[in-house]
Amino acid sequence: MVIKNLTLHNFRNYEDETFCFSEGLNVLTGHNAQGKTNCAEAVFYLCTGTSLRIRHDSQLIRRGASGARIAARAATRFGDVTLEAVIFEKKRELYVNGNRVTRAADFVGNMNCVFFSPGELRLIQDGPDERRRFLNLSISQTSREYCTALARYQRILDQRNNLLKDSNVSLVLETLPVWDEQLAVYAARIIRHRRQYLARLAPLARDAHAFLTDGAETLTLEMDGTYPEQEEEIVQKLLRQFAGAHERDLRLGFTTVGPHRDDIKISIDGADARAFCSQGQARTAALSLKLAETEIFRELAGEVPVLILDDVMSELDLPRRKKLLERIRDIQCILTCTHAARVLYGAECRKIRIREGKIVS
Ligand SMILES: Nc1ncnc2c1ncn2[C@@H]1O[C@H](COP(=O)(O)OP(=O)(O)O)[C@@H](O)[C@H]1O
Ligand SMILES: [Mg+2]
Repeated sequence: MVIKNLTLHNFRNYEDETFCFSEGLNVLTGHNAQGKTNCAEAVFYLCTGTSLRIRHDSQLIRRGASGARIAARAATRFGDVTLEAVIFEKKRELYVNGNRVTRAADFVGNMNCVFFSPGELRLIQDGPDERRRFLNLSISQTSREYCTALARYQRILDQRNNLLKDSNVSLVLETLPVWDEQLAVYAARIIRHRRQYLARLAPLARDAHAFLTDGAETLTLEMDGTYPEQEEEIVQKLLRQFAGAHERDLRLGFTTVGPHRDDIKISIDGADARAFCSQGQARTAALSLKLAETEIFRELAGEVPVLILDDVMSELDLPRRKKLLERIRDIQCILTCTHAARVLYGAECRKIRIREGKIVS
């Protein structure tokens, strides 16, 4: 898949700009706070229907404007696709090939990207939230079934959590099993997808990490938490777990077990990366996960996503930087940096210079 162009209208600090991307390496340069990440964020939004930097869509609207519009055209193996998101203060409209779609699942996955920024270190070093978010986003982009299961699970979970805050304890205890039944069905589907995904991701991430470190380090990924093989058995196990947690859930006022609490265990050379690895190792491990994610798209969707590398070159040492450039030679990449010459070593690329939300060359 290749993004051909991207139009931003009243999006962040852009008034009206159109980017034309090449098939290979595209480098966005400019000083700090000029709009490089904003451009990358717009691509991410069209691919995933969300942004990692915001709490609310309205933050994406240019200050003083009433709405923002992001549109892009991409060449996919099914032909060209156009995507458009129009964002207002309190609602948004999504369009695929000019047709309005109302469900996020119909929008997500038409265009795919893998996003990497220094913040991705959190993937290795922070709590399980970040790793779940990574799984949810990457699996959603390749599986509608996952995307839908996740949305339904979340809705039921919210309702169950509301119920747990009700003061009528006997009524709550009576009603909980009904919610458990529904929750378990989607939970099991989520778990099955995550397990399948991780089984693919783990060897690819290990390879990418070995490549970037020239064989010096071994990266291992495992699902934290054990579930039976069959989806139906997972449902049964979850029902027992939910039932066993009723009292604790009531006391704490939220659902304490389920896939919204699961984690992935990441180790480097056998040591738990979260506790033991250096900044440099964490950075490389996070990058390896992202490179593995691009490979999975290639395998599952038969499509190579756009790789977005936001401000990461300066954070890698010279050998790893060169390895990375070597690794991404055959895919479309949008890379942002302040000084292109310092990170590219003459790699062939299209340079786009940005100043104050405008393309200047
Ligand atoms: N909703 C918005 N309206 C107007 N300007 C915004 C909005 N959101 C962010 N900005 C501006 O965008 C700039 C940051 O752009 P960014 O793409 O993060 O910079 P960089 O080039 O360093 O990656 C800041 O100057 C910020 O004030
Ligand atoms: Mg930036």
